[in-house]
Amino acid sequence: MVDMNHYQTNISNVLVIGSGGAGLRAAIEAKSAGLSVYVIGKRPKNDPHTVLAAGGINASFGNIDKDDSWEKHFTDTYLEGYKIGNIELIEHMAKEAPAAVKEIDLWGANFEKLDNGNFDQRFFGAHTYRRTCYSGDYTGLSILNALLKKTKEFNIEIFDSEYVTDLLVEEEKCFGAISFNIQNGEKTVHLADSIILCTGGHTKNWKRSSSRKNENNGDGMHLGLKAGCKLIDMEMVQFHPTGMLLPEDYEGTLVTEAVRGEGGKLINGRGERFMINYDKERMELSTRDRVAMANYTEIIEGRSSKNGGVFLDISHKKKDFILKKIPKIYRQFIELQSLDITKSPMEVAPTAHYSMGGIEINSINHSTNIEGLFAAGEVAGGLHGANRLGGNSLAEILIFGKMAGFKAAKYSKDLKVQKRSISSIKKALNRIDNKIKSGKELVIPLQKELSLIMWKYCGVVKNSETLKKGLEKIKEIKSRVKEVEVRVEDRNFQDLVNILNLDSALITGEATIISALNRKESRGAHQRSDYKDTNINQEVNYKIYLKNNKLEIEKSNLNKLNGRLAELVENIKKIDASKDKLLE
Ligand code: FUM
Repeated sequence: MVDMNHYQTNISNVLVIGSGGAGLRAAIEAKSAGLSVYVIGKRPKNDPHTVLAAGGINASFGNIDKDDSWEKHFTDTYLEGYKIGNIELIEHMAKEAPAAVKEIDLWGANFEKLDNGNFDQRFFGAHTYRRTCYSGDYTGLSILNALLKKTKEFNIEIFDSEYVTDLLVEEEKCFGAISFNIQNGEKTVHLADSIILCTGGHTKNWKRSSSRKNENNGDGMHLGLKAGCKLIDMEMVQFHPTGMLLPEDYEGTLVTEAVRGEGGKLINGRGERFMINYDKERMELSTRDRVAMANYTEIIEGRSSKNGGVFLDISHKKKDFILKKIPKIYRQFIELQSLDITKSPMEVAPTAHYSMGGIEINSINHSTNIEGLFAAGEVAGGLHGANRLGGNSLAEILIFGKMAGFKAAKYSKDLKVQKRSISSIKKALNRIDNKIKSGKELVIPLQKELSLIMWKYCGVVKNSETLKKGLEKIKEIKSRVKEVEVRVEDRNFQDLVNILNLDSALITGEATIISALNRKESRGAHQRSDYKDTNINQEVNYKIYLKNNKLEIEKSNLNKLNGRLAELVENIKKIDASKDKLLE
């Protein structure tokens, strides 16, 4: 019998929850400010979701296209996010990206260079210029390895296999978190002056997803909600146009945009290069939402490949070129499908890829509305608006991870007194124990049902009818969850992980559907068949929060612009108008 009553205590100035790129960058910043820092993460420390980020990281060096600048990176990000992204966050990212890329390269990311020693830069969808720096198609892995090396130099302790079940909050101030170890069940009470959430998104909730098991289950957003945070833009779920279709166990696995950036063409089941019908200027390098919609439309209108996808073909390029630019994808198709992409096209279809919504943060200091609690990376919302440009997420994790680490360190240093509540700790510990119970339902089938519901009723295109149906189905699953059996045995705590993942998936799924129902228009990744047009009156954000255990929603106007940013946006509008004119 496992002794679930025993627990240990860890004390630090800054607790970072999540050991991916944002978490590690935050930890390095806090530690270099001279503070004690703990990083806890549920996945093995050398295998967080960051390792799957493939094609690159954006910075407006202008190494190849000389006209690039941070203002143009800002413009592309803002406009292609359909004008609902947070302008201050976008400005910060666009300005800081070159320094962040130089820094991580120096730390060992070792990006591809031109003959003159400058970074090579590839095209990514909807960027006006080539601004995506890269290491083949394993850029996220290179970045993570560089960060891990740095955390070692700084003696930062990273505890993996730690599943965080609750944040500790007293009078709207966060003072720590509770976790249990997935390998041995040991519970830990983490007490800290400040806490940074870097726990990723919620796209594993969809049946076809580019995330793996036990990542992006919405657990960080759920922790935030329970602590009193608001979730912003939850309806904005990015479907990447190209996920693998087969084999079934790997359905949704990312086929990087770098394939299209390096010249890959999309072809339908009739052999037609169909992007000409959707964006004849930018073709395969249109925005992700447009390419995903194009693939989706070809498929549902009956022009799909035999297995229900479309083809992505790069076989017209030389083998040496393919092996140099996209080595991981080459290997992925050989290993999973015995398919040689230098000779044959790949079969692909849209896959749930990225949560553009998430915990609302203050755009200057990355704090949440709960004092002492900060958030960075995919768990936080606001930067990408209604469509994320490929390559902006790796920039985001480094830049905002660093900023959150810096601000959390400052908060910790300035803290005079902290109120901690034994009863909050006890309640959180009991909540873990109360999850363990017998029952007639099993978690895994319910998880599968939920992922089908999200795919079917809140997928690439939705409408009021499908969304309402989705909500009903989620309610049904919620009532069956009460009957679920959760067993823990010596060395097996997976049931506990699964039920907690399911709880988070249910609430973040529900939040997504509620937001999607409220946004009565189509905008970027949010496509509704009953409101096909973009509505200027909907240049707003939707925010979701918990009240008496129920999700509530509010509509909120975008940040007021100050003079300088207003001017910048005016310039953007002019560029926008001239772009529209060109298209006429
Ligand atoms: O397609 C990709 O390589 C994905 C990049 C990203 O999501 O930023």
